[in-house]
Amino acid sequence: MTRSWQLGLLDRMLAHRQAGNTTDVGEDVYRNRVDKYVRADRYEAEVEKLFRGLPVLACMTPDVPNPGDYMTLDIADVPVLVARGEDGVVRAFRNVCRHRGACVADGRGHTDKTFMCPYHAWSYRLDGTLVAMTHRAGFAGVDKKEHGLAPLACGEAAGFVFVHLDGDPATFDAAAWLGGAETELTSFGFQNYFRTETRTTVREMNWKLMFDTFGEVYHVEHLHRTTIHPLIQSNNALYDAWETHGRMVVARWPLNDYPDQPRDDWDLLPAATLVYHMVPNTVVIQQVDHLEIYQIFPDGPNRCKAIVSLYAPEEPVTDKAKAYWKKNLDLLMQVTETEDFVMCEQIQRSFASGAQEYIQFGRNEPGLTHYHSTLDRLLGLESPVGDLATR
Ligand code: FES
Ligand SMILES: [Fe+2]
Repeated sequence: MTRSWQLGLLDRMLAHRQAGNTTDVGEDVYRNRVDKYVRADRYEAEVEKLFRGLPVLACMTPDVPNPGDYMTLDIADVPVLVARGEDGVVRAFRNVCRHRGACVADGRGHTDKTFMCPYHAWSYRLDGTLVAMTHRAGFAGVDKKEHGLAPLACGEAAGFVFVHLDGDPATFDAAAWLGGAETELTSFGFQNYFRTETRTTVREMNWKLMFDTFGEVYHVEHLHRTTIHPLIQSNNALYDAWETHGRMVVARWPLNDYPDQPRDDWDLLPAATLVYHMVPNTVVIQQVDHLEIYQIFPDGPNRCKAIVSLYAPEEPVTDKAKAYWKKNLDLLMQVTETEDFVMCEQIQRSFASGAQEYIQFGRNEPGLTHYHSTLDRLLGLESPVGDLATR
């Protein structure tokens, strides 16, 4: 976070404040078709082209910081194993035993040398090679070298670990996928953070609807009047987009005192929360003193599952520190589960009602317009089903 970059963002936010609480705006109102959130064919195209066809965040570097650390997750119904090898390189595999297909690892953990399949105890090294088959004589003629775990394209940049199901493991470039966002994401040093806790939530809504709730802060003073509006402002927000990913900068109340303080004392984070929209399904929230990540996975057109993790800059060792981070995650989950997602589930039901063909993103919601038009572009829709209202 360079000084000039921080001051540039603060100046933009203060200009909005001085102009009477204005906000960054897009070119026009955007009409987003309701059927994008309910149609089965659209859903299938998204799984194919966005979740298999693009890099997806699997975890953060702090989820697998040391050689031998591993974690598992499902992406588009593919069981994935992410492991850091003895050489320090993070790799991903289909979490599928080459004997009869059981998962060779489950959850998170650390292994000194190998993964042992729980079914018949075949074992695999951290680099995926098959090291031992029990009852070797029963598999005479089966070449161990040809039966390692199936590798997936995987790479690490700025503390983010991506897996690309349809990608080429030999050429995958995680930094290139971050594109223009890489420089500032690298500046936070997330690779040195510690994961304090991960929770999951399953809700009856399309996965994009869950993403949308992080796409604007227009609703904060209304829906979150008593919960997070005392912490963050509702209408003063910046939005910048790279080719695919985008970033919102949301004003916090201490910003209002900055004009009365020496410019040399201004720091960005007490005065702002940064929300990165990472296509296709990840929301990265840099709070004042910690990082929150939402990984949103579809489970049919009308259901999604989110993996929610909190990362702190230092490992919490005292009970007080652990309680502090738990309280932070409690607040995030309480607000999203009891306010945002209740609203979203209601909206999902309204989408099925036939009440309207499209919803509208205002000029004051530019992050939503960029996100949805980007998804349409990546889906290869020549005439996006959502379009600017004036076209
Ligand atoms: S399925 Fe893994 S050892 Fe049999
Ligand atoms: Fe919200």
